[in-house]
Amino acid sequence: MKRIAIFASGTGTNARNIIQYFHANPDVSVECIVCNNEHAKARDVANEANIPYYLISKKDLHETDHVVKLMRESEIDLIVLAGFLWLVPETLLQAFPKRIINIHPALLPKHGGPGYYGMKVHDSVIKAGDKETGITIHYLNEKYDDGQIIFQKSIPVEAGDTPETLAQKVHQLEYEWYPKIIGQLLAS
Ligand code: GAR
Repeated sequence: MKRIAIFASGTGTNARNIIQYFHANPDVSVECIVCNNEHAKARDVANEANIPYYLISKKDLHETDHVVKLMRESEIDLIVLAGFLWLVPETLLQAFPKRIINIHPALLPKHGGPGYYGMKVHDSVIKAGDKETGITIHYLNEKYDDGQIIFQKSIPVEAGDTPETLAQKVHQLEYEWYPKIIGQLLAS
């Protein structure tokens, strides 16, 4: 049995999709959702799935070993960031080397780094006039959107696309690929 923790800050649609994907799989368990925003819908996602939800503060994450302990106690094999907007500290990175991954809604290294999240990413793609966009799944390091790339998938930016239409298309790509890549990493 492999155990996942999902870190989310926002609506948690990827979190919900990952939970549903592994629901009937006896080899993979989504153990908990960790969230840094008490207003995030991620809490509803955890409640619906009947899994623990942990609200953490910046202090918990950066000044204590609370989160490292939580992950160790839950025997987590892979930490999956799904719209989690804080940097992860060195202590957690060192405790889980190559076992923390993130998804970014563009083809890194373009349209990534501090300040690039959600709609801002799709705005940037449209403004740049790029012909394609997509998703990047990567290992986490101490910088925003910078770790070693595991997987990318692209789609064309079509005439008439707006940041909103791109957000929708890219979310669909995320739903299709993130759980599959998580499954592959857990099996390797
Ligand atoms: C996702 O599109 C994810 O790629 C993005 O936040 C969204 C969260 O959506 N992450 C970043 O932009 C990280 N730089 P969700 O809350 O509906 O899963």
